[in-house]
Amino acid sequence: MLINDRDLPRQYNQLAESYEKFSSANKEITYVSDPLLLELIGDIHGLDVLDVGCGNGAHLAILREKTPNSLVGVDISEKFIDICKQNLPSDVKLVVANANTEDFVAAIQSAGTGQFDVIYHSFVQVHNTTREEMKAFWRNIHQLLKKGGRAIGITSDPNAAKPLGVDKLMDLSYGFPNGAPLKDGDIFEAHLSPELTVYSHYWSFETVADLMKEIGLKDVRRASVHANDISMQAYSKKEWNVIEKSGAIYALVGVK
Ligand SMILES: C[S@@+](CC[C@H](N)C(=O)[O-])C[C@H]1O[C@@H](n2cnc3c(N)ncnc32)[C@H](O)[C@@H]1O
Repeated sequence: MLINDRDLPRQYNQLAESYEKFSSANKEITYVSDPLLLELIGDIHGLDVLDVGCGNGAHLAILREKTPNSLVGVDISEKFIDICKQNLPSDVKLVVANANTEDFVAAIQSAGTGQFDVIYHSFVQVHNTTREEMKAFWRNIHQLLKKGGRAIGITSDPNAAKPLGVDKLMDLSYGFPNGAPLKDGDIFEAHLSPELTVYSHYWSFETVADLMKEIGLKDVRRASVHANDISMQAYSKKEWNVIEKSGAIYALVGVK
């Protein structure tokens, strides 16, 4: 199955179930990106938290145990939100909306929320197809944050991963349509499993960090993966060194 972002909600609706199988077994998510995401989110006891592009709600389920004041998940795919509703208790608010459109903030607030202390997204910004969409996406996040609130976005850098074989170490593979290193906006294929290919767009850290600063986020920085007990369950030291040094998975972080 292919996800082509020309009709992203329809495609994610079709593959929601295969994605669920992929994400629960995938090394990239379990051992590389999730430990970084959860570390950056940190202690959320009593805080208001939003997951943008929440998929099947796996992160929401983990974070609910950390006793936030409120927890909201939003996704462009109705099917994923249906899956979330089956998997999560009703105190987690769930919304179908597109995070890079003008009515996004109103759609989130219509669910009875105010602003948030922490807004995060994991492998979502690669679906912004233009610089304008990327800017609108981060502007919406900025508007929904309280002053002092934190934004965290996990993403991948296929240019860094592919030459070192880090994609294979994470049990997936990237396809570059022209074979050459990707430039901003270029489409690449993320082959997540033999049945599941997601078309995504490359955006460099520098481009997105500049946009984040333009829309008013402060202390914008890149946070890198580093060894921890979870990652060492799946990788030898040598393999982990390659992953860590590559910069293939990282987070963009900013503060309002
Ligand atoms: C690769 S999946 C990641 C899901 C989840 N965050 C995770 O880490 O497992 C990307 C998710 O982002 C959602 N998505 C993509 N673009 C979006 C947008 N503009 N607004 C809201 N959700 C979006 C998709 O429907 C999908 O659930």
